[in-house]
Amino acid sequence: MNIASKLLKWYSKNARVMPWRGHTDPYAVWVSEIMLQQTRVETVIPYFKRWMDTFPSVRALAKATEQSVLNAWEGLGYYSRARNLRKAAQMIVDEYSGKLPHAVDELRKLPGIGRYTAGAIASIAFGLDEPLLDANLRRVYTRLFNVNIPADSTEGERLLWNLAAKNLPKGKAGDFNQAMMDLGATICLPKNPRCLICPLMGECEAQKLGVQEQRPVLKPKTDVPHVVHAAAAIRQRGRVLLAKRPSKGLLGGMWEFPNGEVAGDPQKGLVKTLRAGYGLKLRSDGMLTTVQHAYSHFRVTVHAFHCELIETPKKGNLKWVKISELDNLPMGKTDRQIARRLCDE
Ligand code: ADE
Repeated sequence: MNIASKLLKWYSKNARVMPWRGHTDPYAVWVSEIMLQQTRVETVIPYFKRWMDTFPSVRALAKATEQSVLNAWEGLGYYSRARNLRKAAQMIVDEYSGKLPHAVDELRKLPGIGRYTAGAIASIAFGLDEPLLDANLRRVYTRLFNVNIPADSTEGERLLWNLAAKNLPKGKAGDFNQAMMDLGATICLPKNPRCLICPLMGECEAQKLGVQEQRPVLKPKTDVPHVVHAAAAIRQRGRVLLAKRPSKGLLGGMWEFPNGEVAGDPQKGLVKTLRAGYGLKLRSDGMLTTVQHAYSHFRVTVHAFHCELIETPKKGNLKWVKISELDNLPMGKTDRQIARRLCDE
C-alpha cells in the first residue's frame, strides 16, 4: 500500500469532526479556510458558526457593511482577511453570478486567496485534483521524505509543492489534503511526534534515521522588531475619544485610542506624538495600563495614560464614543484590552 491509501484508511476512522466538513456549500469551505489560515481549529469553530448565521451566503456577505464584518471577525486577528472576504464576495457577485469559480487560477484572482486557499477550495469544495501545502503538510512531507534543505527557502518550497502534487491520489484530493492536515495536527506533531501510532511510520525516512524532530529545517531566524507606543484615554462626560485607522494596512478601518510611537519616557513622548499625529493638545494624568501584542512581523508594547484635553480637536477621523458603546466598535487586541481596563475602572 502506498502513502495515500494508508493515510485515507486512517482518515476514514480518525477524521476530526468540524462544522465545515461535509458542508455542501463551497462558500462555507472558503470561509472556514480563510479563518483557519492563521488561527487554530478550536478557536475558529465558534466564529465560523456565528459567521454563517450572520452572513449565510456570498450575496449576504457582499451586502454587509465593513463594520459588521470587522465586528464578526474581532478576536481572530489579521483583519485584512475579513475585509478581503467581503471584497471577494462582491467580486463573486459581480463577475461570477454569486458562485465561487472552480479553477485554481480564477480563485487566485480573488483578494485573500493564495496558493494554499485556492488548492483547499478546489480540492475540498469542488473535488478537483489540486495539491496544497500548509504548515502541517510541510512538516509531514519534510519528515516522510527527509527533506533537509530549509523548507521556507525558495528551493524548499518548490520541492515541497512538487511532493504535494506527486503524492496526490486522483479523485480523492479533498480527503487526502485534509487527512494530511489531521495527521500533522494530531500525530506528526512539531514536538514529540507520535510515531508509534502513525499510519505512515513504515514510510517515513526521517523516522527511520531518528531525525524526525529536526524536520522541517528552517532558515535562521531574524529578530522581530519591538516598537513602543503610548496611547491616550481621554474621557469627557461618559465618552472617550477614539481614532479610526486608515482603511488600508494593519488593522485597517478599526478603532483605537489615539497613539504614537515613543522613545524614552512614554508619558512625555505621548504629548509630543499626539500633537504631531492628530493635532491633539493634551495633558497626561497618570498610567492606565500597559499591554503587549506580538504580530507576525513585530512586537508592540502600548503604555496607555489617562489624559485631559487642553484644546478640543477639530481634526478628521477622531470620534467621541460612549464608554458603554465601546464593545460595538471593532478594535485590535491591544486597544480592546485598554478599553476593557477603562470600563473596569
Ligand atoms: N486547517 C485548515 N483547513 C483545514 C481543514 N479543512 N481541515 C483541517 N485542518 C485545517
